[in-house]
Amino acid sequence: MKSICIIKPDDWHLHLRSGEAMRSVVGMSAAQMGRAIVMPNLTPPVKSAVQARAYHDEIVRALPEGSVFKPLMVLYLTDNTSALDIQEAVEASEVYAAKLYPAGATTNSESGVTDVSHIYPALEAMQKAGMPLLLHGEVTDPEVDVFDREAVFIDTTLSQIVKDFPGLKIVLEHITTKDAADYVASAPKNVAATITPHHLLVNRNHMLVGGIKPHYYCLPILKRKQPHQNALLAAATSADPKFFLGTDSAPHDKHAKESACGCAGIFSAHAAIELYAMAFDGVGAIERLEGFASKFGPDFYGLSRNSEIITLEKQSWTVPESYDFAGSEVQPFFSGDEITWRMQPC
Ligand code: DOR
Ligand code: ZN
Repeated sequence: MKSICIIKPDDWHLHLRSGEAMRSVVGMSAAQMGRAIVMPNLTPPVKSAVQARAYHDEIVRALPEGSVFKPLMVLYLTDNTSALDIQEAVEASEVYAAKLYPAGATTNSESGVTDVSHIYPALEAMQKAGMPLLLHGEVTDPEVDVFDREAVFIDTTLSQIVKDFPGLKIVLEHITTKDAADYVASAPKNVAATITPHHLLVNRNHMLVGGIKPHYYCLPILKRKQPHQNALLAAATSADPKFFLGTDSAPHDKHAKESACGCAGIFSAHAAIELYAMAFDGVGAIERLEGFASKFGPDFYGLSRNSEIITLEKQSWTVPESYDFAGSEVQPFFSGDEITWRMQPC
């Protein structure tokens, strides 16, 4: 049986939700990850350092006994986020980044930014303080096709931010296109990207062929296998430190997804590192997993790498059909299917 040992990974893009929903899922991330960048798109969103600290403490209280998992909090940018709000976030030891959701781009983004010019003072303060800007990289113009929204965002918005803030650390989150992979690879070294397990393992055919599968619906939406999924696999396994792990695991109640207007999000925290192992192994690059999963993220954020080691074995197991989720159910990615790698308990 093949097995590998790697430094314990971190998840640089995770949705944990709050309350009972958060308590249902946080243990799964804590079992695999050393740290996670926790997305702030709650209702109401996490807009201040005070709210970020309260959310941090709520997560820590919910951790299993003895867990050393560390949630890294994120400020939700709005049209009204000021340089002072950023300063307070920089001074709060719990906050590590700020997130730009274009208003209306995705789940709970209604309070997001309507025009990037509104947050230029905040971006100036972030650049000065070394605080990373995390981007949901899609335009919201109704005239732009949903499959083109990431590429148009890069051309119209991201390239402008990169030009105007040459010293700002930027993470283009959950990239889904060859356009994004190419842009980030050739951008200055302050620009990086996260890649999800679902964008590595599936494409839009999985969502649309043989019937609409709402559990594959996420934003940015799954794209074509060629050139996009293949370009993401190439980027993730390239050993280029600009690309690192961010699951975008986004739990929703099963019934909220299986609906006439199903919500966006794929839950992958139950098997995050195993899913990535399967994707890397599938293209003969398992030896490149550790850099992507455990080294490049902390290096980009300027944090130390984890000191613990985990073991992954090539061993098939079947993912449950569902997990408990705040008194209801969440359907995990690969539910009922086989995953070919398994993390071993320490
Ligand atoms: O699929 C997604 N789900 N994409 C996002 O950007 C948000 C996330 C969520 O919060 O459910
Ligand atoms: Zn997300």
